[in-house]
Amino acid sequence: MNKDRPIGVFDSGIGGLSVLKQFVRFMPYEKYIYLGDNAHVPYGNKSAETVKEYAKECTEFLLDKKVKMIVVACNTVSAVAMDVVRSVSDVPVIEMIKPAAGAALRATVNGKIAVIGTRATINSKAYSNEILKLSDSKKIKVLSEACPLFVPIIEEGWIRHDATRLIIEEYLNDLYKTGVDTLVLGCTHYPMLAKLLTEIYPGLTLIDSGEHAAVSAVRVLAESSVLKEERNEYVVKPEIEFFVSDLPANFNEQAQRFLGFEVNSPKRVVPGRSLPK
Ligand code: DGL
Repeated sequence: MNKDRPIGVFDSGIGGLSVLKQFVRFMPYEKYIYLGDNAHVPYGNKSAETVKEYAKECTEFLLDKKVKMIVVACNTVSAVAMDVVRSVSDVPVIEMIKPAAGAALRATVNGKIAVIGTRATINSKAYSNEILKLSDSKKIKVLSEACPLFVPIIEEGWIRHDATRLIIEEYLNDLYKTGVDTLVLGCTHYPMLAKLLTEIYPGLTLIDSGEHAAVSAVRVLAESSVLKEERNEYVVKPEIEFFVSDLPANFNEQAQRFLGFEVNSPKRVVPGRSLPK
């Protein structure tokens, strides 16, 4: 396997850019191909069968681009469709759940962990099962809450809006009152609410699943000797090629908000149908 091959990252839309941001933070010298399947977003309210179909098409699209790793930068896919992604992949695959589950166990002091995510992620119990599996203590308690309204309000850019605060409190006040000390942000969009969550619930340790997935990817690439060497120069604009399955008018503005820097215009593709070479 050649180190110069890109890392392939996919999500249901723009949310995975919060994950890509973490990858670029830890590995600025790598090349990336990002696929946002935003013609089908949100995945989080769909059935596992449908998410599996989409995930397979996205994975095959990236494999066709000769990537050296597949990053499933979507918690919903990570929760319900990893069997399909792994069955078609002949390169290492990184998902969101295991690294975040491990980080939550390291972070908690009182053993009470909360997980929030889309309906599909929470209903799958993927996070709670993984946390309990990794934990060697019977004292770990995991509480979960689906927060389906967070995705649309974040995409609307209502990051510090009064309505957002009210919605957060409606979903999470009861959870907070149970005394949880660690909150897993089990959805690509939720890191955007980190500041507001910390203001409303001081003392809670937030776990960003993208950050921990990036750390685990560094290890996997290094172990397979395909991690690109650091160069003695600062990367201002990382090499990223963007593909989307729909091109909404405000894509660049939204993408920049998630990624923190300006993006090149994406190409529109239909994963599963017209695989461009
Ligand atoms: N990317 C999805 C996730 O992390 C959120 C958006 C969606 O529902 O598709 O679960």
